[in-house]
Amino acid sequence: MLATLDQQARQFRDDVLAGLSAPIPAVPARWLYDQRGSELFDRITRLPAYYPTRTEMGIFDEIMPEVAARVPKGAVVVEFGAGSQTKTPILLEAVSPAAYIPVDISGDYLEQSAVELQRLFPRIEVVPVVADFARPFTLPGGFAHLPRLGFFPGSTIGNFVPWSAADLLRHFRALLGAGSQLLIGMDRVKPVERLIAAYDDPEGVTAQFTLNLLTRINRELDGDIPVDAFRHEARWNDMLSRIEIHLVAKRDVAFIVADHSFAFAKGASIHVENSHKYDPRGARVLLLAGGWTPLVEWSDAAGDFAEILAIAEPERFAP
Ligand code: TRP
Repeated sequence: MLATLDQQARQFRDDVLAGLSAPIPAVPARWLYDQRGSELFDRITRLPAYYPTRTEMGIFDEIMPEVAARVPKGAVVVEFGAGSQTKTPILLEAVSPAAYIPVDISGDYLEQSAVELQRLFPRIEVVPVVADFARPFTLPGGFAHLPRLGFFPGSTIGNFVPWSAADLLRHFRALLGAGSQLLIGMDRVKPVERLIAAYDDPEGVTAQFTLNLLTRINRELDGDIPVDAFRHEARWNDMLSRIEIHLVAKRDVAFIVADHSFAFAKGASIHVENSHKYDPRGARVLLLAGGWTPLVEWSDAAGDFAEILAIAEPERFAP
């Protein structure tokens, strides 16, 4: 346990120091989620302006009978990320798999979520795997003969640049194998005002969430960043079809983190997240590029969010 903590702390330090001195300063988004960050993110998912979580839940309520009709009985569900207590039960209830394998890098959170889901579904074998799902890992043995369904809700795929997203999908395919299915969420392109509101809400919760990264750096990496010298900004990058989240210096500012000095001129920024939005055909091309053939696509009535079921077709002689 201590060893993993040390490793996390070292990784955080390395990421922050390298990121702050990069030509385009950036810190990986996963460092936003410390205790306070996770609490704030939980509040974000319930904000009126943040439509994705609520919309995806609504889609799940509608589509599960159809999903269940397409997924073979007694399958293995592999979730990329720890199971959410709201989304995962809807899927497990509908497809009643033989086993459920959540994969997450955060061991504590994964364990907690797995225990809770096992309690809710005593007849499903719950086998959590502590791993970074974006890196190679192996599934626990004993399930090789069962059909597989990958589950990747929440539009997390949108947080990867398309190049990495395609790599990730190919890695899922290699892991799950030909013939497997994947149920994946993707957020759709929509009017810029709505996108900006979702990532820069009027209540200012999202701003608190991202600025908390600087507070965390100060606390854990012995920093003296004047947090009030930065502001949260959500930008729509139309060419790349994504929301970008930046922490922008409001004035010239200099500070120290872990004995290293940094200076940001007024207007310079630290890039902390990308959230790519896909139109229906863009979503399908991405899946195909990653080795997944779309089978069915569902969305809410307004077309705000999409859930796609895809299959890893066996390779065949190319025409
Ligand atoms: N990455 C998720 C998304 O794209 C969660 C998120 C919502 C987020 N608001 C954010 C991440 C603000 C960083 C900053 O929806």
